[in-house]
Amino acid sequence: MISLTIITILLISIALVRGQTAGTTTTTWDCCEPACGYTSNLSAGARGPVRSCNKTNGPAAAGAQNACFTQGGQAFSCSSYQPIIISNTLSYGFAGHGNTATATCCKCYQFMWTSGAAAGKSMIVQAINAGGITDTDFDIYTPGGGVGDYNGCTAQYGAPSGGWGRQYGGDTRTTTFFELILTA
Ligand SMILES: *[C@@H]1O[C@H](CO)[C@@H](O)[C@H](O)[C@H]1NC(C)=O
Ligand SMILES: *[C@@H]1O[C@H](CO)[C@@H](O)[C@H](O)[C@H]1NC(C)=O
Repeated sequence: MISLTIITILLISIALVRGQTAGTTTTTWDCCEPACGYTSNLSAGARGPVRSCNKTNGPAAAGAQNACFTQGGQAFSCSSYQPIIISNTLSYGFAGHGNTATATCCKCYQFMWTSGAAAGKSMIVQAINAGGITDTDFDIYTPGGGVGDYNGCTAQYGAPSGGWGRQYGGDTRTTTFFELILTA
């Protein structure tokens, strides 16, 4: 909790410095080692890499290969990347953001949804993945949120070959597209 509090304070100061942008959110849960799990992918000044996990969500072994890129690889996402509810209007979480990992890993962002069921609620996320995502959109790590292009969930959890629900978008109950105001 202490580190989360520090992150919140930092985010508030960062939000005051940067402007607002509109974007959208989607969901993901591909079970892959995130792009920010590679030291070579960190942005300038970032401390990392982000944690990757073994099949049962313990720490991945040193040198374990990304399960999505190497047959038999034993580095996966961690189950702890699912969103954390803080209050009725705020949650913390992790997201894919941007097309270039070295630009976004492991920055934190706060956004507020401006439409849809979550209008008026906000989220503070740390970017742990990148690639195929625009600079204004966030692909929020949500269990069942769709495996997308790569599926590590069959190897980690025995999920069907296309993941759970829709490959892009996942289980319909977890997937809604919102407009948002980005303050990062
Ligand atoms: C994952 O790591 C935990 C903690 O080190 C260990 O207990 C568990 O056996 C590991 N799981 C696998 C599948 O290696
Ligand atoms: C780095 O991030 C990119 C996405 O920006 C990803 O495609 C790649 O697999 C990551 N890892 C390495 C070692 O480049």
